[in-house]
Amino acid sequence: MNEIRPEELNINPFTLIGKDWLVLSAGDENGYNGMTVSWGHLGCLWSPNRPTAIAYVRQSRYTKEFLDKNDLFTLSMISDRKALAYLGSHSGREGAKFENAGVKPLFTDGTVAVDGAKLILVCRKLYTAPFDEAGFVDKDIPAKDYAGGDIHSMYVGEIIKCYRE
Ligand SMILES: Cc1cc2nc3c(=O)[nH]c(=O)nc-3n(C[C@H](O)[C@H](O)[C@H](O)COP(=O)(O)O)c2cc1C
Repeated sequence: MNEIRPEELNINPFTLIGKDWLVLSAGDENGYNGMTVSWGHLGCLWSPNRPTAIAYVRQSRYTKEFLDKNDLFTLSMISDRKALAYLGSHSGREGAKFENAGVKPLFTDGTVAVDGAKLILVCRKLYTAPFDEAGFVDKDIPAKDYAGGDIHSMYVGEIIKCYRE
C-alpha cells in the first residue's frame, strides 16, 4: 500500500460510497468488527480545513460498540461483492464475521482495516451524535427511514492516513 494525501484521491464519492460500498471497521488485535456501509460523506470540515469522512451507523450495529470504544476507525474499499454482501447482512455478534466473509483484518496505525483493500482511509473520531428527529425539516425522512426507530449516529472522522493499492 502506498500512502497518499487525501488531496491526491481521484475518486467519485457518490460511486465509491453509494455504489461500490465501503467496509467500516474499528477495533484492534484484542477485538474488532466491521460492516458494509453505503451512506457516508467525504469532504472538509473544521479548522484548519480538515479532510474528513462521515459514517452513519444505526444504534443496533455491533460495529457501533467498537466505534464508541476506540478513537480510530477505518473505511476500506474492497471489490469482493460477496464479502461486502456478507459483511452487510450478518452481525459480528453471530461469530467470526471477517473469516466467514472470506476477508482478513489488517492491523495498521493502531486500528483495523480489511487486508488487500484498494483504498484505506484511517480516521480519527472528532464528533459523534445520534440524529435528533426534531431537526428533520423534511418529515418524510424520519417517517420512512426511522419508522422502526434505530436511528443513525454520525461519526465524523479526520482522515489521518490514506493508503492506496
Ligand atoms: C449495501 C449495504 C449498505 C449498508 N449501509 C449501512 C450504513 O451506511 N449504515 C448502517 O448502519 N448500516 C448499513 N448497512 C447494514 C449493516 O452493514 C448490517 O446491518 C450489518 O450486518 C451490521 O453488522 P454488525 O452488527 O456486525 O455491525 C448496510 C448494508 C448493506 C448491504
